[in-house]
Amino acid sequence: MEKHVQALLNKLSFASVTIATLTLLLLYLQTPETCVDPSDPKPKPHARFPGSTCDYTHRTYTSLEKRNRRIWSTKTWTSAVSSYAALFKTLKVSNHSRALIVSAGPGHAVVALNEMGVEDVTAVELVESPPLVSRADPHNLPFFDEAFDFGFGVYLDRALFPGRYVGEIERSVRGGGECLVAVEECGAEEVEEVARLFKKSRFVDAKNVSLGGERRTRILMKVNDN
Ligand SMILES: *[C@@H]1O[C@H](CO)[C@@H](O)[C@H](O)[C@H]1NC(C)=O
Ligand SMILES: *[C@@H]1O[C@H](CO)[C@@H](O)[C@H](O)[C@H]1NC(C)=O
Repeated sequence: MEKHVQALLNKLSFASVTIATLTLLLLYLQTPETCVDPSDPKPKPHARFPGSTCDYTHRTYTSLEKRNRRIWSTKTWTSAVSSYAALFKTLKVSNHSRALIVSAGPGHAVVALNEMGVEDVTAVELVESPPLVSRADPHNLPFFDEAFDFGFGVYLDRALFPGRYVGEIERSVRGGGECLVAVEECGAEEVEEVARLFKKSRFVDAKNVSLGGERRTRILMKVNDN
């Protein structure tokens, strides 16, 4: 009786091994179905498979340029740029300043500074907007200490760790340089709180401004000379 069961089990396992092998073979031999013709020597950019997960070449430069030209000609864009230009004019940023913009969004502040004659502008945001804004975490800026003359944190109020955010801008600006941060429109008490986040700068002034159609309060600090 037991031998009989054993034989049956053996037969069953042999059958499953055969089925598994055949299935594997079938999968292996079957060409994957794709909507892209591999023999097409010039596939459309959007139909090309990236060579690896780091392959960005299918985002062709022309389409980026075209898209940027479209964005930069909208009224929303130009009026936002003007609002940043108005802000920078009150600060008297020198043409030779090395400027850092953190939380730069799509880069309004970069264009405003460039148009004023400030050429050395570095802008970062969690999401890059080439060619104006690169990708970097505001809480961990990839810059040397004191690499800039002027640092602007555009959205301190959206920072996950405000102390760290301010600390990174303060670290990246040289002694004697200026740090500017903007938050949602607020009164003197909140301004004082923001100023206290800075560890080696002194308060210069705070003003209500309109930036990109939003009512904001900008707070200017001067980094202590060492
Ligand atoms: C700064 O650059 C702008 C635009 O290029 C120019 O009009 C202005 O005169 C320059 N300012 C100084 C102080 O050089
Ligand atoms: C900004 O405006 C608000 C509302 O008008 C006011 O309460 C606040 O004091 C102003 N803040 C500054 C820094 O002037």
